[in-house]
Amino acid sequence: MTQRRAFRWPQPLEGQTARIWYGGDYNPDQWPEEVWDDDIRLMTKAGVNLVSVGIFSWAKIEPREGVFDFDWLDRIIDKLGKAGIAVDLASATASPPMWLTQAHPEVLWQDYRGDVCQPGARQHWRPTSPVFREYALKLCRAMAEHYKDNPYVVAWHVSNEYGCHNRFDYSEDAERAFQDWCKDRYGTIDAVNDAWGTAFWAQHMNDFTEIVPPRFIGDGNFMNPGKLLDWKRFSSDALKAFYIAERDLLESITPGRPLTTNFMISAGGTGIDYDDWGNEVDFVSNDHYFTPGESHLDELAYSASLTDGIARKNPWFLMENSTGAVNWRPINYRKEPGQLVRDALGHLAMGANAICYFQWRQSKAGAEKFHTAMVPHAGEDSQDFRDVCELGEDLQRLADAGVLDTKLAKSRVAVVFDYESEWATEHTATPTQQVRHWTEPLAWFRAFADNGITADVVPVRSDWDTYEAAVLPSVYLLSEETTRRVRDYVAKGGKLFVTYYTGISDEKDHIWLGGYPGSIRDVVGVRIEEFAPMGTDFEGALDHLELTNGAVAHDFADVITSVADSARVLETYKSDPWVGMNGVPAIIVNEYGDGKAAYVGCRLGREGLAKSLPELLGAMGVEAPAGETGVGDVLRVERTNEAGDVTFHFLFNRTHHAVTVPADGEVVVASLAHTDDDGSVTIDPNGVAIVKR
Ligand code: GAL
Repeated sequence: MTQRRAFRWPQPLEGQTARIWYGGDYNPDQWPEEVWDDDIRLMTKAGVNLVSVGIFSWAKIEPREGVFDFDWLDRIIDKLGKAGIAVDLASATASPPMWLTQAHPEVLWQDYRGDVCQPGARQHWRPTSPVFREYALKLCRAMAEHYKDNPYVVAWHVSNEYGCHNRFDYSEDAERAFQDWCKDRYGTIDAVNDAWGTAFWAQHMNDFTEIVPPRFIGDGNFMNPGKLLDWKRFSSDALKAFYIAERDLLESITPGRPLTTNFMISAGGTGIDYDDWGNEVDFVSNDHYFTPGESHLDELAYSASLTDGIARKNPWFLMENSTGAVNWRPINYRKEPGQLVRDALGHLAMGANAICYFQWRQSKAGAEKFHTAMVPHAGEDSQDFRDVCELGEDLQRLADAGVLDTKLAKSRVAVVFDYESEWATEHTATPTQQVRHWTEPLAWFRAFADNGITADVVPVRSDWDTYEAAVLPSVYLLSEETTRRVRDYVAKGGKLFVTYYTGISDEKDHIWLGGYPGSIRDVVGVRIEEFAPMGTDFEGALDHLELTNGAVAHDFADVITSVADSARVLETYKSDPWVGMNGVPAIIVNEYGDGKAAYVGCRLGREGLAKSLPELLGAMGVEAPAGETGVGDVLRVERTNEAGDVTFHFLFNRTHHAVTVPADGEVVVASLAHTDDDGSVTIDPNGVAIVKR
């Protein structure tokens, strides 16, 4: 087990008390200095107390090799600090200057066909390049030496969103590093041969030098799955090694200053194993951008909960989100009125003690000029800036009310998320391309919310086995270690929900034999001989299955051929006889040791799960709020202090109509919400009320 770094949080400037950090990325180098004073005036007006500076400033800080210009940065940091605004200072290494890449084109990363990523945007560097590392560390050293005693710098922002654009590099440097990584992980080439199953298709290797990155193999061909899985692990580790090199250098010069790097945790964002990276930061920080449309609030809450799980319930930092539209989707939807404030408070509810944006002032040139910001193109006289000011006041009120002494309360239910299961299920030679890991945890989180339960989303390496109930949603890889935990958990009284496509393979992606789910068949009490994927790409092919409770399965069903004597079948499929699924068990509950395991053998989606949950929860003995209609209208999140005698109840309206709920306490914040004479609170669509009890 990797040792976690001790939790450390950026401390307030001298003479100030702890507040919720509030601000954003600040790029003063994009503006003439006349604008800076206006920035400070507006930051003060909005209640901003922290900004991240210098993230993309390498070319301005080191305009020529070895020539450093800190004057401008000194001036702005000084102005900020004197105005009481703390600085989260970047290592500034995210985007190398032209002089560097022209002198050393060998630092540019290569894609899987060998094409070189040219300068012109950002992050055009190889994580494994020794040359790039040397230059980046030289900059880190200069930054740390120059700012080591600066009283206004409260944290290091190391690089930026590692791997956002350079996750996979297939260069010669990467090849060597991949060989070394394999040596470290497996020791001998025979162990690699075994792990990757190289007896298949004549892929046997005699020596580590025969290991090459999974480069172009021709369209429509299939890469060795074990190798591809390890390549994803390696790529996450290669970036992590680079981060650690930067971190350790900064730390050696400024040992007392907390460090972080901004993650990109969202429901579908699975490039980097952030749970693993969570061990390496002093505090977790995340960048989250909203999903437009009907899943907006739920996806945000889900991602924020997973971030809290990765932070192991320590406070975390929302490093970036947007006030409104982004610029990088094909269609960049605006936020609806109220969503700016509501979204921020959604993150706060889930354990964030810092709310920051990309970015402070909207750019007038460059690739992000259409990305919204705290100060939009329209300027101070704008709804967005008024909302930013309102949020500043809300955060101040929450801090005054004591929210910083609370953390996200532990739910009774854990939904498990696993980066490696996602990576393995992304392979292109699987039972169906329609099914991957990540969508299933989100569907469960939403279905629980529909039934009035706000689950915790937690990584597979965390403490899911300490919850009253836990869900393994399409956790395709189950290592021996996780298998043992599953077994112990249920044997000792845990209530485990398991779905289709869980426990199919071990950590090498070797199938657990004897019928699926091979490693936990006895725990769940089912045996599956075959899968029944569904789709619409062929006329007349099976495209859905109806269950006896009226729920409908799409995309995937297990052909369950036997159930244990200790199991009870709750639902079966209803289908035409020739399909071979009529009467096949779909939802089962099994007794195992002192606990119970439910098995859901098909993809029901959020809707089908929400429909099936009341019965399933009953059968599992998990108490749920009374099934009155509208129980899922409000997303309820609680933050509690350690003694358990102060709780902040966050009430978010999930619907498109006003909802009224009892307040039973002091309403500290109401956004698109108001208290009624009878002590209840009415929350409009996109509204939120925060009640202290
Ligand atoms: C992030 C990045 C920021 C900005 C933002 C726009 O990925 O860290 O610098 O580009 O996206 O949404």
